Amino acid sequence: MKKTASNRPLQIVCVVGARPNFMKIAPLMRVFRAEPQSFQAYLVHTGQHYDEAMKDAFFRELQIPEPDVDLGVGSGSHAQQTAEIMRRFEPILDDLAPDAVLVVGDVNSTIACALVATKKGIPVVHVESGLRSYDRQMPEEINRVLTDQISDLLFTTEPDGESNLLREGVAQERIRFVGNVMIDTLLANRDRAVPAKDTLQSMQGFDTSSGFGLLTLHRPSNVDNPAILRRLLETLAEVSQCLPLVFPMHPRTRQRVQEAGLDSLVQSSRIGVTEPLGYLRLVGVMSAAKLVLTDSGGLQEETTALGVPCITLRENTERPITVEQGTNTVVGTDPTKIRTCFDDILVTGGKAGRVPPLWDGQAAKRIAQALLEWSDTRARAAA
Ligand code: UD1
Repeated sequence: MKKTASNRPLQIVCVVGARPNFMKIAPLMRVFRAEPQSFQAYLVHTGQHYDEAMKDAFFRELQIPEPDVDLGVGSGSHAQQTAEIMRRFEPILDDLAPDAVLVVGDVNSTIACALVATKKGIPVVHVESGLRSYDRQMPEEINRVLTDQISDLLFTTEPDGESNLLREGVAQERIRFVGNVMIDTLLANRDRAVPAKDTLQSMQGFDTSSGFGLLTLHRPSNVDNPAILRRLLETLAEVSQCLPLVFPMHPRTRQRVQEAGLDSLVQSSRIGVTEPLGYLRLVGVMSAAKLVLTDSGGLQEETTALGVPCITLRENTERPITVEQGTNTVVGTDPTKIRTCFDDILVTGGKAGRVPPLWDGQAAKRIAQALLEWSDTRARAAA
């Protein structure tokens, strides 16, 4: 790999906060740490996610190095969480004075750290930029739009990302189409996945001998309103009569189901509720599922890469390539649409789909190379 013009390693502070960040940072940390002459990468965990099941399992399984700093912010309202991350991140940047701050994805930790860095004049690098649902009710959409506006170097996962950014006035020379780091992690770990049967056998009274589907649900728009949550769970209970569903439940969802008194809807021999699964178990279950029902962003991409049919329980997606080229169908929360799509997949096997360009396991390497070239160009311009 090429060295920086200044002949010293590029110092980068990499930020993670929440579960979907961990699979994105893992291949980047690996590439950076493998090239110590080129990169000095620090890892900061904001502490947005902190449970064993939501954080530690991922660090362990994906061999992510221990964070150099853990800001330990924990949960809170959006304002509290974002503000607390910013407050605790600032002295770290003062201390380290890196050449760049690298943020991934679209969670509160992403925008919080990007904002602190840019106001200190430290360049921001955004991995997975340009995705747009065009739904500003979604907290992640606000995080995406704002982070991209203040980023200096923007790495996209699909061609739509670039057109969205150009439309928002981001200069072309800041954008690089590099592929998908989340798929780097999937391809690197697919063979290490825990076979689905090992996960399912501990779920007593749950018969998956004729196949099963995987269900995940955690978006505020789906779980925070008790009426919407009830309607969704009733529909899912109904379709589970045709195909049992494995349901690893996010802590937010568990809380909301309890608060709304809806436990009885998921206490069925056709729905196997578990704690959130670690990465290697989830990949094993997802790979063996006949279909996936989800409101997650990452699962829409992972199912497309694995060729597993995906039904997205949202009104829109910021990842349109998974619909245009992949196995994804966006149905929203309307019971009839969910039932129709579900039945269709059981009959036809769903969309064949193909893997999008550059989802080939090499995105982190492209990012590392692009970072060195970018730093080189900046150093020459400053000389
Ligand atoms: C966050 C991200 C979302 C991502 C999701 C993946 C934002 C705005 N949202 O949503 O984009 O898809 O992570 O999980 O950043 N909790 C625990 N243990 C934990 C973490 C959270 O019990 O380790 C509970 C807490 O009650 C917390 C709630 O989950 O209040 C929600 O956590 P939070 O980080 O606010 O948002 P997520 O819904 O997880």
